[in-house]
Amino acid sequence: MHLLFIVLVLLVVCIFKFIHSVIWVPWRIQVYFRKQGISGPNYRPIFGNTPEYRRLFSEVRSKPMPFNHDIVHRVAPFYYEWSRKYGKTFLYWFGTKPTLAISDPDMIKEVLMNTGDGSFQKARNNPLAKLLFGQGLNGLDGEEWALHRRIANQAFMIERVKCWVPEIVESITKMLIKWEEIRGGRDEFEVDVHRELQNFTSDVIAKTAFGSNYEEGKRIFLLQDQHKYLAYQAFGNVYIPGFRFLPTKKNRERWRFDRETREAIRKLIKNNNSERENSRNLLSLLMSSYKNQEGEEEKLGIEEIINECKTFYFSGKESTADLLTWALLLLALHQEWQNKAREEVFSIFGENESIAAEKLNDLKIVNSILCETQRLYPPVVMLPRQTSKNVKLGTLDVPAGTHFYLALPSVHHDPDIWGKDANEFNPLRFNEPRNHLASFFPFGIGPRMCVGKNLAVMEVKIVLAMIIRSYSFVVSPTYVHAPSLLLSTQPQFGAQILFRRI
Ligand code: HEM
Repeated sequence: MHLLFIVLVLLVVCIFKFIHSVIWVPWRIQVYFRKQGISGPNYRPIFGNTPEYRRLFSEVRSKPMPFNHDIVHRVAPFYYEWSRKYGKTFLYWFGTKPTLAISDPDMIKEVLMNTGDGSFQKARNNPLAKLLFGQGLNGLDGEEWALHRRIANQAFMIERVKCWVPEIVESITKMLIKWEEIRGGRDEFEVDVHRELQNFTSDVIAKTAFGSNYEEGKRIFLLQDQHKYLAYQAFGNVYIPGFRFLPTKKNRERWRFDRETREAIRKLIKNNNSERENSRNLLSLLMSSYKNQEGEEEKLGIEEIINECKTFYFSGKESTADLLTWALLLLALHQEWQNKAREEVFSIFGENESIAAEKLNDLKIVNSILCETQRLYPPVVMLPRQTSKNVKLGTLDVPAGTHFYLALPSVHHDPDIWGKDANEFNPLRFNEPRNHLASFFPFGIGPRMCVGKNLAVMEVKIVLAMIIRSYSFVVSPTYVHAPSLLLSTQPQFGAQILFRRI
């Protein structure tokens, strides 16, 4: 009788807690925002608006689009749909998580710049997706993040990155030799550049960062590629606490990918350790100790290094390959800009001169083309943040625990910011100074800005210069335009381009 009573009390407490967190709290938050003039799709218990969110994504992915650059409805279909109904700032629900979608550059700037006192922290990753990146820079906060960031900043300083030019050129040369084999003496040949550039950026990150090459790092990239699809599924689903410990088929695969990736990286570290003298790769720099401002020694532990390696392997490969792919497609479509870029490359590097890091800054037209590419096709569109306390954002009172969707693609395509031709490819617009820091932020802004930006920018300039110098190119008739979000903005059916040797 006594036991039955305890069980009953526990049951009532559980039901009460469930109703409180799944119905009462979300309902109160929704009312709180509505009173401030912020509406959005109605909250639905447990799953929030996730089913609708997923439906919108699968709908756009089910068909291609005409070849224009108006892609917000494809890479952020939920933002496109709901902002038209509820206004540019609205509230939606990812499970029981309230998420404030914003596209006002002032608000975005405040969120991205204001991380110091924990007002707007990096949002916690879904634990299932976290396995892909490890627990590296991307997912850290506070003091731990600051230590990792100080070390990574040193590794990616522009002077260090410039030393990697020979390795980058070697990787491109290897890719172009393969292209010549594909050409086989013909006038014209077709390449799916997305696939090729992913191999190229993998090779670069394997060499520059870890002192190995694509072949040695291949196992890690293959594992990460397979893991990527599972992580992507996890991002689109509401996470049920404890689910990651259940031995479901997908979880077991996630565990295996994680275990094998960590093992492969551990091996790489061991090899690197024996060749460390004079080594200038990222791994050696991650393994070194540094003096901080107080003169104290700082050093990462082995598991922390493995986590960072996982992060760099993934971040260094995907987004850089995406940017290069979209840039080549845009230049294949806009021949006048391809010609202008080629003239500039010839005038600075001649026909055969080797590419010198010092001269890369002179590539002004190439630079505007790359900026315009990132404006129209930003590779990274998710910059997740959450509040750790009640904060004021503009005129809004935002309660602790609110998540943010910063509508980067929408800002980059906003006619109020970029004019009536916002969806057109016009690199000339980057000749004018920018009117707002948060009107264009493909690498993020503020303290969490991309740590690999120097490497990425240098890499894409060199590869574009070397391709443009060797080939003229047009879009292949087999190309199907379907920009899609798969963790980053990618061409869903590849990027087929026809090349002709100059
Ligand atoms: C075109 C290529 C790239 C783009 C567009 C890009 C974009 C971004 C963006 C937007 C962020 C900020 C995310 C946020 O604020 O939440 C970021 C962070 C980061 N990126 Fe990149 N990235 C690129 C290349 C790279 C490369 C080559 C590496 C390393 C090899 C890298 C490593 C990282 C890391 C570790 C972070 C997390 C920084 C932190 O939280 O402190 N990225 N990137």
